[in-house]
Amino acid sequence: MKIGLIGYGKMGQAIEAIAKKRGHVISKIIDLKNMEELSQLTPNNTDVVIEFSTPQTAFNNISNCLEQGLPIISGTTGWLDQLPVVEALCRQKNGTFLSTTNFSLGVNIFLKLNEWLTKVMDQQPQYEVDIEEIHHLQKLDRPSGTAITLAYDIIKDHSKYENWSLDEIHSQTIKINSLRKPEVPGTHRVVYESTIDKIEIKHEAYSRAGFAEGAVLVAEWIQHKKGVLTMNDFINL
Ligand SMILES: NC(=O)c1ccc[n+]([C@@H]2O[C@H](COP(=O)([O-])OP(=O)(O)OC[C@H]3O[C@@H](n4cnc5c(N)ncnc54)[C@H](O)[C@@H]3O)[C@@H](O)[C@H]2O)c1
Repeated sequence: MKIGLIGYGKMGQAIEAIAKKRGHVISKIIDLKNMEELSQLTPNNTDVVIEFSTPQTAFNNISNCLEQGLPIISGTTGWLDQLPVVEALCRQKNGTFLSTTNFSLGVNIFLKLNEWLTKVMDQQPQYEVDIEEIHHLQKLDRPSGTAITLAYDIIKDHSKYENWSLDEIHSQTIKINSLRKPEVPGTHRVVYESTIDKIEIKHEAYSRAGFAEGAVLVAEWIQHKKGVLTMNDFINL
């Protein structure tokens, strides 16, 4: 498979290494210094594009690829308020698109655990929930996209919670503690606490390998599919 990479930072480079190990060819790499070459990515030279850039650039990169008729998957976080526009464009162009705040299989299992635990804890009003996420110092967005996904999954099924916040604490608000520490690839905890005990679930990534390998596996899976797809479609848990 010929893979186009948009964004050649920590994730782009990790993906290149895994893609080559799995026998794929990198057709073109687009980063800040050659971003005007984006239009050179076409279905003639590229089967699937993998996009990991910045919150400010993802929307434009993805829209351009969909306009070109290129299947594209994106892991960039911090721009998801514009997601509905991109999904509409994908449908209009009969294109192929998947965006996820987390490509790791382990995190997607963890998200399922969170959904299950929410339904159980909805029946236990004596517990308050908090979310914690820890990432490396260079991460541009806060809180992490995965923490936001965890929060919305709780809000969807827990009758007490209506929104999330980084600092405001109301009884109907889920507090997200967002910490930045050197060299942490990504740690998430969901903690339910009462006056007598605490229940927590936690996912800790040891490296970026899980995200990068997940992205390459999704790219392999998606190349002949159509539509707006999700990690749930891929993992089918
Ligand atoms: N979904 C996941 O599984 C997952 C995992 C890790 C990181 N992320 C997210 O992926 C994104 C990238 O993470 P990273 O750690 O590689 O960041 P990074 O800062 O190391 O790399 C980002 C790269 O994008 C480049 N860039 C800037 N403008 C660009 C443009 N217009 N076109 C193309 N490239 C451009 C930068 O030069 C840089 O090389 C972040 O939003 C991060 O939160 C997602």
